[in-house]
Amino acid sequence: MYLVLLGPPGAGKGTQAALLARNQNIVHISTGDMLREAVKAGTELGQEAQQYMDRGELVPDDVVVGITRERLNAPDAHRGFVLDGFPRTAPQAEQLDGILEELDMQLHLIVNLEVPERELIRRMTGRRVCPNCGKTYHLVFHPPRSLGTCDECGTDLVQRDDDKESTVRQRLEVYRKQTEPLVHYYAESGLLLNLEGTGTVDQVYERLEKFLK
Ligand code: AP5
Repeated sequence: MYLVLLGPPGAGKGTQAALLARNQNIVHISTGDMLREAVKAGTELGQEAQQYMDRGELVPDDVVVGITRERLNAPDAHRGFVLDGFPRTAPQAEQLDGILEELDMQLHLIVNLEVPERELIRRMTGRRVCPNCGKTYHLVFHPPRSLGTCDECGTDLVQRDDDKESTVRQRLEVYRKQTEPLVHYYAESGLLLNLEGTGTVDQVYERLEKFLK
């Protein structure tokens, strides 16, 4: 199964993609995670990406298309993938079409998660992540068992730099201008599913799974 998860920052793309990957035995490809790893490793790509990410802006298309192309070319992507956070601009969507054609793959479904803005802001500003294993929590909706510490590896949790409220608002603005138009692009393909992204994580996943079945 070849899927794309669309939706504004904080809509739950990463959360639902992780569940899909585990339950459907497919690969979770998150451009945000790949870029954060490059930043952490201090690579040239990471240094270039960081300045955009810290400002809540999009990293240039050629950089993001390059890393996604490489990841989609890896053998495990052939058994199925869920793309989380890519594509995000019209040129990225067009390039994705070309990459998939070269690889003889066809998208099966594009899921657009819909969540009201107030809820998006609450979700992002309350998010905490483990800098060691990458597990994501929320102070209210999905708290760790012991406050401030990762359940999996015991590392102190941190707030993502781009989850401060002013940067969150900038990311939402960028989404409206550059990414939302993709909903119309995919609507024309007949593969788009608009899915209500409110409710608990399990409720959203159940909605999604019902459709997949
Ligand atoms: P990226 O990491 O992709 O960030 P994003 O799209 O802004 O996505 P988020 O991770 O904030 O939200 P999400 O929808 O994944 O929600 P999540 O499941 O985490 O990108 C970061 C940056 O990298 C970009 O700003 C850009 O600079 C760059 N970048 C990445 N891709 C790019 C591209 N293609 N082109 C150019 N630049 C790119 O959930 C959020 C929170 O809500 C969590 O705390 C979670 O626990 C909680 N939550 C989730 N679901 C629920 C629920 N149902 N109820 C309650 N809480 C919930």
